[in-house]
This record gives sequence, structure tokens and C-alpha cells, in this order.
Amino acid sequence: MATTNGAVENGQPDRKSPALPRPIRNLEVKFTKIFINNEWNESKSGKKFATYNPSTLEKICEVEEGDKPDVDKAVEAAQAAFQRGSPWRRLDALSRGRLLHQLADLVERDRTILATLETMDTGKPFLHAFFIDLEGCIKTLRYFAGWADKIQGKTIPTDDNVVCFTRHEPIGVCGAITPWNFPLLMLVWKLAPALCCGNTVVVKPAEQTPLTALHLGSLIREVGFPPGVVNIVPGFGPTVGAAISSHPQINKIAFTGSTEVGKLVKEAASRSNLKRVTLELGGKNPCIVCADADLDLAVECAHQGVFFNQGQCCTAASRVFVEEQVYSEFVKRSVEYAKKRPVGDPFDVRTEQGPQIDQKQFNKILDLIESGKKEGAKLECGGSAMEDRGLFIKPTVFSEVTDTMRIAKEEIFGPVQPILKFKNIEEVIKRANSLEYGLTAAVFTKNLDKALKLASALESGTVWINCYNAIYAQAPFGGFKMSGNGRELGEYALAEYTEVKTVTIKLDDKNP
Ligand code: NAI
Ligand code: MG
Repeated sequence: MATTNGAVENGQPDRKSPALPRPIRNLEVKFTKIFINNEWNESKSGKKFATYNPSTLEKICEVEEGDKPDVDKAVEAAQAAFQRGSPWRRLDALSRGRLLHQLADLVERDRTILATLETMDTGKPFLHAFFIDLEGCIKTLRYFAGWADKIQGKTIPTDDNVVCFTRHEPIGVCGAITPWNFPLLMLVWKLAPALCCGNTVVVKPAEQTPLTALHLGSLIREVGFPPGVVNIVPGFGPTVGAAISSHPQINKIAFTGSTEVGKLVKEAASRSNLKRVTLELGGKNPCIVCADADLDLAVECAHQGVFFNQGQCCTAASRVFVEEQVYSEFVKRSVEYAKKRPVGDPFDVRTEQGPQIDQKQFNKILDLIESGKKEGAKLECGGSAMEDRGLFIKPTVFSEVTDTMRIAKEEIFGPVQPILKFKNIEEVIKRANSLEYGLTAAVFTKNLDKALKLASALESGTVWINCYNAIYAQAPFGGFKMSGNGRELGEYALAEYTEVKTVTIKLDDKNP
């Protein structure tokens, strides 16, 4: 996720900066309960679950484990907060924006705590959490804070004696189900537009990474959002997640995660009450390097594009298509990069790659690496776990990858770079578009005609030209085809959190 303040280039914090932030050692976790009505609740079942530090495999703490009855209570609170005449509904739009700005202020104040919690829970490098995840959260909150009082309808010319206008109203209670790869950022992508439009929210953070969402709950309360406007129920997918997606009093759901679960969420949404659904799902994103590209830039961007966040990105550059004239040079330089990538303790400022999130993901990635070896791809470097190091995997590069191999078709979500060869533009367009995914694509070329031709031909929600992971709060993000439904971020996101009401007034002709 690119930032615009110069602190980070292509996902790389400036490690020479004298003002590098430092994590908080031995941070005590304060918020581990279910957040409803601005209060901390124990689970109705009395159950708790543990969250682990994937870097050390140690238990960080236990968190209250929600289930359907806790979701029901959260939805009741969110519904009450949304009632006509409630403090939240009576709040003018400008004040809603101010609350979001104040929330951004507190996220800035607690930035080091939040980045430390995120690193403990996910294993991502602390500097990435601080400069990329938290930067994105703050900017997204501020961006949508600015929209709060600018959500306007239209007047529509119809008949001579008719006045017709639209109102863009909040939808009601919105559910948010978020993943573990960018736990706080993916939550803020949903929370900020939902609140800016005047909705109330019930959140389920991923079970692997509940801590930053709960800390955010404490900030929601401190800012003074009315009780019930934001509710957070930690727990598991088949219990809390399913209760949210099938709840008849939730009017909209926003989900980020696997395509498989995205389908379940949409099915449950249809069966229960046809709630509105936005989905951000998987990707198998083509990164196309033409022979005329700036090769240094292309190698670096493709490397960061696939290895960033331990490869656990829906935007991962996981199919690199390189034109044949520069193929062997590109592979050679990419392997040099991968071999140099510092893997280790995510709290160490030199580290660029931490552990994978959990055993299930770790196993899935190693299985895909084995499939690459068996199916005849050429293993250039890596290809296995780090010895005696828990969930760490060596940065892995495969060349001579062909379209039918599993590593060229399936989302790996790990530090594995498959490099394919292409001969001409028409061929690469066809191959890039051949999968059911369509989240992002990248093109490296100095030829403007080629760049724009590819930008128009590629079937994906985002096309990056001569850059990667350039994501801005102002610009929409989402997928074509099975990569998702709807868009997050930008003005486009507002449509996903509002209902349009048409008001038609017939004028009395006889009244002068
Ligand atoms: P997942 O889709 O199971 O998890 C995402 C969220 O959905 C979590 O909060 C989870 O608790 C929830 N969930 C699970 N089952 C649910 C259900 N039946 N109803 C409602 N919510 C439910 O993803 P998982 O298993 O953690 O990872 C599997 C694969 O998914 C990864 O290997 C990766 O390929 C992909 N993935 C994609 C992400 C993205 O950013 N698009 C993020 C995370 C995973
Ligand atoms: Mg954890």
C-alpha cells in the first residue's frame, strides 16, 4: 500500500531515517472483550479463545469468544443506535465528520501501540505495520471524514408540475467481516465509509488477529461515538461470521477474505434478507513486464509486489509474465533480490519478511511449492521452510512456469514468485485474462500506447502502470469476476453504504 509522504517507497520504509519509530516491548494487551454499546462484555457462553504471536508461536492472550447470542446483542445495540431520533441519527453530518477526524487523531496518538499489537498478532514487520497499515488507516479515516457532509442527492427534471429529488440515506446496521492479513486497515476500509454515511456497524475481526480491532473499540468509546454505533464481536467464521451474514436485521455486509467464504457470505445474505453485499476476495494478479520496461524498476516492483506482507496480499504479483527478450535477465535479478530479502524477527528494523500467519497457511504454501517442483517449474531459490524457525518460509522464486501449473493458477498467499514467459501482447492479454480472478494487474513498459492498450484490455479492478500496490484512500479498489463485488475506498464506496430514495412532489396547478 503506497503512501504519499515519502516515508515508504514500494513498501520500503526509509531505514536510514533518524526518526524511525520503535515498537513497545512487552506491551500489555488491555482490550480482550466483546465491545457492545461502548461497553466491554464477557461472552454469553463464557468461552474464550487464544491469539498467538506467529513469530514465536507463543500465546499472547485470551479473548472473549463471541457466538450467535453475542451477535444478536450487538445487532440489537446497533439497531437501537440507528433508530429515528437517536443521538446518532440526530447528529448533523458535519459533526459525524468531526468524530471521524477525532478518531483519526487518536489512532495517530496510539499509532505505536497499534503497530506493535499488529506485529504481535500477525508477525508482519513492525515498520510495515507502522508506515503502511497505520498510515493507510489514518488517511482513510480522514478521507471519509471529509465526505460526511458532502453526501448529496440530485434534483431530477421530470414533468413540468413535478419536483423530484433524491436523498442518499444510510442503509442501517452494516456487518463487517475482516481478514488477518491487514487486520486494522481492512476494518477501517469498511468502518470509515459506513460511519461517514451515518450507518451503525457490527464487526467480526479474524480469529487470528483480533487485537487491533478491540483497541480501536476503546478509541471509538473515548472519542464519544454514541453507544451502539460500533460493536465488535471477536470469534470464529462459522459462528460469529455466519451469524452476521445471515442476520435478518443486518442490512449490508462487507467482507474481505477467501473466495470460498465470500460465496458462503453472499448465499447467507441472499437466504436471510437479501442484504447488500460487498466482497473483496482473492486474486492471481498478472504483472506484465515488457521488453522495453525500465528493468530495475520492474524487478524491484515485482519483487515487493509478491513478497510484501509475507506474500499474504490479495494484490500479490503472483503471475509475473516477462517478455522473452528480457526473461533470463529478469529472472537472474529477481533471484538476487529474493536471496537478499531479510527474513526474521518482525520487531527488528532490518526485517522485511516475518512468519506466515498460521500452520494452515504455512502448510498450504509448502504444498504449493512442492506442486511447483513436481510439475516441472525450475526452482531458482528458496523452496522450503526456514530450518527450525516455526512458520517462516524462504523467499522462493520459480522460473519456467507454465499456465497449467498449480502455482500459476491458485492463490498461494505466501513468499513465492512464479515467473512465466510471453512472446507478444495479444498472447499475454489472453493468458492474463484466462483465470476467474480479476483483482489487480500491473504493466511495466515505457511505451504509452502499449500501456494504455493493456490498461483497457486487462480484466481487473485495478491496473498499475510502472508501479505496484499504489493504493489510495481516494481511489476505488475492488475486483472484476470472482475477485469480488462492489468497490471500497474513494467516492465509489459511498454508494455501497447508502440507499437512494426518490422523493417526488406533485405541485398543485390551481395554487398560484
Ligand atoms: P477466510 O475467508 O476463512 O477468513 C476471512 C474472514 O472470514 C475471517 O474473519 C473468518 O473468520 C471469516 N469466516 C470464515 N468462515 C466464515 C463463514 N462461514 N461465514 C462468515 N465468515 C467466515 O480465509 P482464511 O481461511 O483465513 O484463508 C484462506 C485463504 O483465503 C488464504 O490462503 C488466501 O488465499 C485467502 N485470503 C484472502 C484474503 C484477501 O485479502 N482477499 C485475506 C485472507 C485470506
Ligand atoms: Mg495472533
